[in-house]
Amino acid sequence: MNKQFDVIVIGAGPGGYIAAIRAAQLGFSVACIDEWKNAAGGPAPGGTCTNVGCIPSKALLQSSEHFEHANKHFSEHGISATNVSMDVGKMLARKDTVIKQNNDGILYLLKKNKVAFFHGRGSFVKTVEGAYEIKVTGAVEDTLSGKHIIVATGSSARALPGVPFDEVNVLSNDGALRVGAVPKKLGLIGSGVIGLEMGSVWRRLGAEVTVLEALPTFLGAVDEQIAKEAKKAFDKQGLKIELGVKVGEIKSGKKGVSLQYADAKGEAKELVVDKLIVSIGRVPNTTGLNAEAVGLTLDERGAIVVDGDCKTSLPHVWAVGDVVRGPMLAHKAEEEGVAVAERIAGQHGHVNFNTIPWVIYTSPEIAWVGQTEQQLKAAGRAYKAGTFPFLANGRARALGDTTGMVKMLADATTDEILGVHIVGPMASELIAECVVAMEFRASSEDLARICHAHPSLSEATKEAALAVDKRTLNF
Ligand code: FAD
Ligand code: NAI
Repeated sequence: MNKQFDVIVIGAGPGGYIAAIRAAQLGFSVACIDEWKNAAGGPAPGGTCTNVGCIPSKALLQSSEHFEHANKHFSEHGISATNVSMDVGKMLARKDTVIKQNNDGILYLLKKNKVAFFHGRGSFVKTVEGAYEIKVTGAVEDTLSGKHIIVATGSSARALPGVPFDEVNVLSNDGALRVGAVPKKLGLIGSGVIGLEMGSVWRRLGAEVTVLEALPTFLGAVDEQIAKEAKKAFDKQGLKIELGVKVGEIKSGKKGVSLQYADAKGEAKELVVDKLIVSIGRVPNTTGLNAEAVGLTLDERGAIVVDGDCKTSLPHVWAVGDVVRGPMLAHKAEEEGVAVAERIAGQHGHVNFNTIPWVIYTSPEIAWVGQTEQQLKAAGRAYKAGTFPFLANGRARALGDTTGMVKMLADATTDEILGVHIVGPMASELIAECVVAMEFRASSEDLARICHAHPSLSEATKEAALAVDKRTLNF
C-alpha cells in the first residue's frame, strides 16, 4: 500500500520546503521529496539557493569584501594591515559550513512541522482514484500517493551549445563557487546577476576578470541611470565588461580556456583565461519528473505551464518557483509556495508580482522594486522622479562608501510610488522599506513625512521621496 498524503511537494528548494511547511501549518499531511546530495551522499535540502546559489555566493561575497576592505580601505581608518593574504581553502570551507547550517536548519524545520522528508528523485507514475502516484528513487525506494502535488523542482545553469560544463575549466554557478585557488585570469560569459556577483568575488581576490556580454546595453532590465552609475563603479574597480560581443569557438585544455569572439565593432578577438564561468541564464528542471506519464503540459523551454495562481494543466497539480514563468528568485519561489498551500486550503493565497524586489549583491549593491523610468516612458505614464546621492548622506560618509543614489518614481497626478531604484551601500536592506511602501500604495509624500533615524542610509530614501517634490533638505 502506498504511503498516502494530502500534499506531496517535489523539490525542497525555497519554493518547495516553504510550501511544505505552510501546507503542514494548515493541517495537511505533507511529504517533501528532494534529491540533492551533500558530499557524504546525505540529504541537502534547500535547493539551488542553499547549495549552489544565494547562500554560498553571499558567503563568498562577504569573505572577498572583507579581504578587499583589509587591503584597500582599512588604511583610511588608520588601521594598518600589511601582508593581508587570503586562504581560499578556508574561505571555501567556511562557505560549506554556512551551507550545512542551512541544510540542517531546513531538515529541522521540516521535522518540527511534521513534514515527511524523502531523499531521492520524485517522478509521476499515474493517477489513481483522484490522487497521483509518485515514485521516489534513491537510496531508499518508495511509492507515495498524494491528493495535491506541488512541483518545485527549480532550475539548472544553461550551457552554451556544444560547450558542456566540465566544472574544472568551464564552470557553471556550481563550479564557480568551488574554485580552489584564485585564477590569474577569469572569463565570464553573461554580465547578468551571476556574472557580476561571481566576477566581483574573484576580482576582489586578485583575478583579472573579463565579462563578455551579448547585449549592447549593460543590465538592460535595470533603470538606465542606475545601471550607468553601477557600470561606472565596476569600471573603476577594474571589472572589465565588454558589451555587444558575439561569442564564437571555445576550446578548453590543460592550460585553460581560449575563446574566440567578435567585439561590438565586429572585430575578431581572442580571450585566453584560466577559468571560464558561463552565466547566461537558467533552464527549468523538468527532465526527471516523468511529466508525460500524467500529461503535464510544459512549454517550449521545458517550464511547467501555469496560470497566475500556479495551477498547471492538471487538476490538483501546482508548480512554483524557477520551474515556472516569472523571475528566478528565491523569495518569489517562497511567496508562490505559501500562496499555493493556502489555495489548496481554500484560502486566497496572493502574490503581488509588481512588488517583488531584485537585489544584485555587488559593491555597490543594486536593488529595485517596481517600474523603471524607461518602462514608465514606454507605457506613456506621466511620472515625477526624485534622486538623492549617498554623497550627501552622513552615514554613508561615516561608512566611507558614498557611491550611488536612491531614485524614486511616482505618479505625476496621484503621487503613488511606482518604482524605487537604488545603487549604493546596503541597497539590499534599504529596498525593503520601499517594498512595504509600494505594497501599501504609499505616495512619495507619505514616505517623505515618515521620521527616519539619523544618521542612517535610510535617510537617503526619505530624501529621494522629498526630491520627487523638489524639496530635498540635505542636497
Ligand atoms: P531550487 O532552489 O532549484 O530547488 C529545487 C530542488 O528540487 C533542488 O533541490 C533539486 O535538487 C530538487 N529536484 C529537482 N528535480 C527533482 C525531482 N524530480 N525529485 C526530487 N527533487 C528534485 N535568488 C535570490 O532571490 N537571491 C539571491 O541572492 C540569489 N542568488 C543566486 C546565486 C546563484 C549563483 C544562483 C545560481 C541563483 C541565485 N538565486 C538567487 C536564484 C535562486 O537560487 C532560485 O530562484 C531559487 O533557488 C529557486 O527556488 P526553487 O525552489 O524554485 O528551486
Ligand atoms: P541572467 O539572466 O541574470 O544574465 C544572463 C546574461 O547573459 C544576460 O545579460 C544575457 O544577455 C547574457 N547572455 C545570454 N546568452 C549569451 C551569450 N551567448 N553570450 C554572451 N552573453 C549572453 O542569468 P544568470 O546571471 O545566469 O543568472 C540566472 C538567474 O539566477 C538570474 O536571472 C536570477 O534570476 C538568478 N540569480 C539571482 C541573484 C540575486 O537575486 N542576487 C544572484 C544570481 C542569480
